[in-house]
Amino acid sequence: MAPKCILLPRDEMPRQWYNVLADIKLNPPLGPDGNPVSPDMLAPVFPMNLIEQEVSQERWIDIPEPVLDVLSIWRPSPLIRADRFEKALGTPAKIYYKHEGVSPPGSHKPNTAVPQAYYNKEFGIENMTTETGAGQWGSALSFACSQFGLNCKVYMVRVSFDQKPYRKAMMETWGGQCVASPSEETKAGRDALAKDPNTPGSLGIAISEAIEAAVSDESGKTRYSLGSVLNHVMLHQTIIGLEARQQFAMIDAYPDVVIGCAGGGSNFAGLAFPFVSDKINGKEIAIYPVEPAACPTMTRAPFVYDHGDTAGYTPLLPMHSLGHNFVPPPIHAGGLRYHGMAPTVSQLVDEGLLTPKAVTQTQAYKAGLLWARTEGFIPAPETTNALAAVVEEANRAKEEGKEKIIVANFSGHGLLDLGAYERFLSGEINDVVFEDTIIEDANALFAEYPKPASLKSV
Ligand SMILES: Cc1ncc(COP(=O)(O)O)c(C=O)c1O
Repeated sequence: MAPKCILLPRDEMPRQWYNVLADIKLNPPLGPDGNPVSPDMLAPVFPMNLIEQEVSQERWIDIPEPVLDVLSIWRPSPLIRADRFEKALGTPAKIYYKHEGVSPPGSHKPNTAVPQAYYNKEFGIENMTTETGAGQWGSALSFACSQFGLNCKVYMVRVSFDQKPYRKAMMETWGGQCVASPSEETKAGRDALAKDPNTPGSLGIAISEAIEAAVSDESGKTRYSLGSVLNHVMLHQTIIGLEARQQFAMIDAYPDVVIGCAGGGSNFAGLAFPFVSDKINGKEIAIYPVEPAACPTMTRAPFVYDHGDTAGYTPLLPMHSLGHNFVPPPIHAGGLRYHGMAPTVSQLVDEGLLTPKAVTQTQAYKAGLLWARTEGFIPAPETTNALAAVVEEANRAKEEGKEKIIVANFSGHGLLDLGAYERFLSGEINDVVFEDTIIEDANALFAEYPKPASLKSV
């Protein structure tokens, strides 16, 4: 009987991260004067040891022992065959998933929260600020800060704050502090409230608030932390794909298709980048980042230079963007409500090495429900987007009569998202129509912005 669960022994956990920047070309981030930002310009926001990682081109970067020690609370995460899901779909495809919902906060997010807290502590920082969309990232950073004795303050996007009250309790249990964003505490928050007192908030606004809170602390002991998008975040997440490659080797298999949902791109990149490296070196493999049709960054938005946050505090990043002032509709996959996409993921999309997909909210919940009723684990709303793409791919394999191997990232569990399932089961969740005018507005916004050069890595 084929194994259901492929477990990597703890002492075979990867001891280095894979840095995709060794293998691809990227346009530099730009400052307000239109010139590339230098590392010291980022120093008020991030500690220098993380800034060095952000710009490093080394292919392999050692994972510090204290980080490995905390990660090994739940890592290596299992690679599991979703044979019950396969059976329900009647597909010849073999579906595997990397279960990242087994971490203490319930998602892939602590894979980077733990090293970020560690490097901040090493640099002498005492307080960290951040934003959170789904609540998973804020929980992850609160957990990580508790491991290294740091204070943590989280600006949680208003709509998620209201939908998921127990995420706040979780953050507080780990000693973190959580406020709804936009808040009255920062200029960025007050400006957003003045514009629309009933705004659902957005990741872009919450990022502005958290950056402002960090840089305005005169003690110099506070830094900001981002849970996605940046190069060092993608780097830390590659432990997922590195483990998966080792686990496939244990069963003498290799995937044909790699799938992950993408908000800012980190869980997708974490699973996919080690396979992207194989693809660059000649392997035939299809790699799909999956986004909500209501916030179609990669499938509809242009590849441009844009700010990572709404107030424009971040440098201009080369990415697919719907415009930093776009407030995505309040879909339940809060972690996918982001106007931009990681520069590394955007670059790989631009070069055709990744094939982005968009799925609707109802498609995602249907896949999530089937998953829960076959494989048992209740997926986070974000994760259901990846599962919807797995369903499409499994159906394609059925039509083509092909025994493809599909691997998906199960980025998190949905045990604190049950309100969303309740709404779906009672027929209250509908699809949101994405208006073409949003793209027209974005193009108008970007008319005056610098354009990223078209680069070819391969
Ligand atoms: C469970 C889960 N999956 C996916 C995401 C999307 O983020 P990213 O694209 O950085 O993986 C989030 C973000 O909050 C999340 O909580």
